[in-house]
Amino acid sequence: MTKSPARIRKAVFPVAGLGTRFLPATKAMPKEMLTVVDRPVIQHVVDEARAAGIEHFVFVTGRNKGVIEDHFDSQFELERTLQERGKEKELAALLRDLPGAGQTSFTRQQAALGLGHAVWCAREIVGSEPFALLLPDMLHFSSAPCLATMMEAYQELGGNMVAVSPVPDDQTQNYGIVGVDNAQNQVSEIKTMVEKPRPGTAPSNLHITGRYILQPEIFDLLEKQKPGAGNEIQLTDAMLGLLERDDQKFHAVRFGGQLYDCGSKLGFLMANVAYGLSREGLGDGFRRELNKLMSKDI
Ligand code: UTP
Repeated sequence: MTKSPARIRKAVFPVAGLGTRFLPATKAMPKEMLTVVDRPVIQHVVDEARAAGIEHFVFVTGRNKGVIEDHFDSQFELERTLQERGKEKELAALLRDLPGAGQTSFTRQQAALGLGHAVWCAREIVGSEPFALLLPDMLHFSSAPCLATMMEAYQELGGNMVAVSPVPDDQTQNYGIVGVDNAQNQVSEIKTMVEKPRPGTAPSNLHITGRYILQPEIFDLLEKQKPGAGNEIQLTDAMLGLLERDDQKFHAVRFGGQLYDCGSKLGFLMANVAYGLSREGLGDGFRRELNKLMSKDI
């Protein structure tokens, strides 16, 4: 009988980046706290992890990110005030979003040396079990939550999983790209990967979208990983090292929904439109107002 793969209980959220593309908004406020409709971007991503069965949420924070910790803590005065004013619906919604006691951990990346380094900072909290990794500025908008779909594939195949999506051929140099055995399949085995390939050298047009399931051996590679593209310690470089080992497999899971890079201004604005239009009780009115706006010459 084949053994089923170890359960994924923990998810890592690296939130220590500087958010330079979003200055000045991110001067005093983390970009992960920018709101898409009425929820901070990071809350949308934590929701996705919870929907996939994650039980422990590990945040790798940095300077000026304390408000993220506050967001996932209870707010006694606010909760009591809501109760006293009979705002039960609002109170219930707040409490529903809150992770349970002991279900969050926070660690610091003292210097923003790159995504790979941020993930390595979580090694003591994750320990020796496989874990999920979600990049908080990438919103995956879909009726089938991305991480839950990856979990299904993981149950069957085990190993390491990376969510991917196609980009136009002339944009591959901006992304982490994978080469797979069959690019048309929903789930395919990864043969190679490269961070920001030089134009014309990408092994496919499938880019890594920011959702991963990783085996804990990645931490040993990250510890020794030299800076790569952009002089940052790149996760993709360490994943390539893991892929080259005989005992490790990587599969790409195609994400079929819409991606919004909320670290960029355009992606963030589009996310607000998409999530706003799909929100019950808001979408119809928003669509009417948008149509009016679009018909004006501004
Ligand atoms: P990004 O490169 O998109 O984030 O990293 P950034 O560096 O904040 O953005 P810009 O380019 O300056 O605008 C993807 C994710 O990895 C985290 C970021 O917080 C983001 O969620 N990250 C990146 C870290 O936690 N530490 C790092 O050293 C780099």
